[in-house]
Amino acid sequence: MLGPMHNDIETILFSTEEILAGLIRLAEEITRDFGDEEFTVVGVLKGSVVFVSDLVRNLDTTLEMAFVSASSYRSGTESGKLDLTFFPMDEEITGKRILLADDILDTGRTMFALKHELLARGAAEVKTCVFLDKPSRRSVELEADYRCFEVEDLFVVGYGLDYAGRYRNLPYVGDLKPSVYESPADSSKREGVSA
Ligand code: IMP
Ligand code: MG
Repeated sequence: MLGPMHNDIETILFSTEEILAGLIRLAEEITRDFGDEEFTVVGVLKGSVVFVSDLVRNLDTTLEMAFVSASSYRSGTESGKLDLTFFPMDEEITGKRILLADDILDTGRTMFALKHELLARGAAEVKTCVFLDKPSRRSVELEADYRCFEVEDLFVVGYGLDYAGRYRNLPYVGDLKPSVYESPADSSKREGVSA
């Protein structure tokens, strides 16, 4: 029996099996490119946590992990102002090769801001890596160096991606039924604070 969270999903876009296959493909590419030189995977909280934890276990390299927090204060499903709320300590960044990982590249503003902040704090190199890429929505000039899958302009949840804080634990990626957005029953859904 599946729990109620699954009833809110309209269509499954990437199954658990497809995600694993995409992840292994991506991890092989990163392992090949980064070679023997050590680097730090910097995950963007909270959305990248599921992706990063699966990704690092498929990377056959020596690496360290760190996290940044970038909250995009928004209502509903539109990205709003970006607030960099938490950064690793300078010694975790200065002189390091960094793989900046997030759940999705949408307008690109989050990754753009974080990449430049990391470089300003002395990172030797910053490559970007996203689980999903929504190129049709881009508003800044940034392409991911690595990405697992491309998605069309749909609001998707699961595998770390949330709607108003929920659905991150879905083991697949899907889009939500319109009734979930439209439901007036729970107004907290309209005040999503997450990245
Ligand atoms: P960007 O700054 O517009 O590229 O978007 C950054 C953040 O918006 C991502 O890290 C996600 O947290 C969120 N986001 C964008 N599109 C989606 C989506 O389809 N589902 C869930 N979160 C999304
Ligand atoms: Mg996010």
